[in-house]
Amino acid sequence: MPETPKVAIVTGAARGIGAATAKRLARDGFAVAVLDLDEAACAETVTAIEKEGGRALAVGVDVADAERVEAAVNRVADELGAPLVLVNNAGITRDNLLFKMTDHDWDSVMGVHLRGAFLMSRAVQKHMTAVGWGRIVNLSSTSALGNRGQANYSAAKAGLQGFTKTLAIELGKFGVTVNAVAPGFIATEMTAATAERLGMSFEGFKKASATQIPVARVGEPDDIAHTVSFFASEGAGFVSGQVIYVAGGPKD
Ligand code: NAI
Repeated sequence: MPETPKVAIVTGAARGIGAATAKRLARDGFAVAVLDLDEAACAETVTAIEKEGGRALAVGVDVADAERVEAAVNRVADELGAPLVLVNNAGITRDNLLFKMTDHDWDSVMGVHLRGAFLMSRAVQKHMTAVGWGRIVNLSSTSALGNRGQANYSAAKAGLQGFTKTLAIELGKFGVTVNAVAPGFIATEMTAATAERLGMSFEGFKKASATQIPVARVGEPDDIAHTVSFFASEGAGFVSGQVIYVAGGPKD
């Protein structure tokens, strides 16, 4: 790692996987910009990091909004230093069977996952290439392999895998690696909302899902944070363009 301040950006870090990842990167020694739609909602993650002696900054931004993304990344660079790690984690679901899926369901999912990751990566890469070191980690999903009711989400998550591989090819010579983590079932508000939509209790949904998972449990946000931490580490510099399924069993 270069002799610059270690600064990481995690999008969608107010809660769930993003919050766990922000806290983990802070423990790894990064000052962490905690980005989410609502700046006030980032306070919990920021406070948790500060309590452990880390440094964090709350930034409100819609990752699908080009102007706000530019402004947010500039603010991070001014207040914390050049961001050299980017975790594109912000995400939404708008599940429905194809015949019931609206244009808006399609566009909003593409907007957050694909456009969001594109805008954030484009804004941050100039800092990474200037220094000659960087790590981009994109959140894909096992849904990239196909999942009923998620035509929009699975297309976006599969798209992120292609995006990851292309950025790895383009940015490698600047010392920047680009990888993806594809989680299976992780217990967060996102999966709690899925349980509700299916008319199940969250506990019942988790139990039923665990029976289908080889390690016989559902995942926790820290399972993903750990994998992101590996990709962000100095020692992972020869690993690029990869997708790791973190799903308690094999996926292909
Ligand atoms: P979550 O719903 O608990 O948290 C997502 C966060 O992203 C929220 O804080 C939300 O406000 C933020 N966000 C949404 N739209 C945004 C936007 N336009 N700009 C900025 N922030 C925005 O979700 P969870 O479960 O923590 O998921 C995180 C990532 O992991 C997502 O990309 C999701 O698709 C992916 N993932 C989650 C899985 C799971 O089982 N929970 C499985 C596979 C992938």
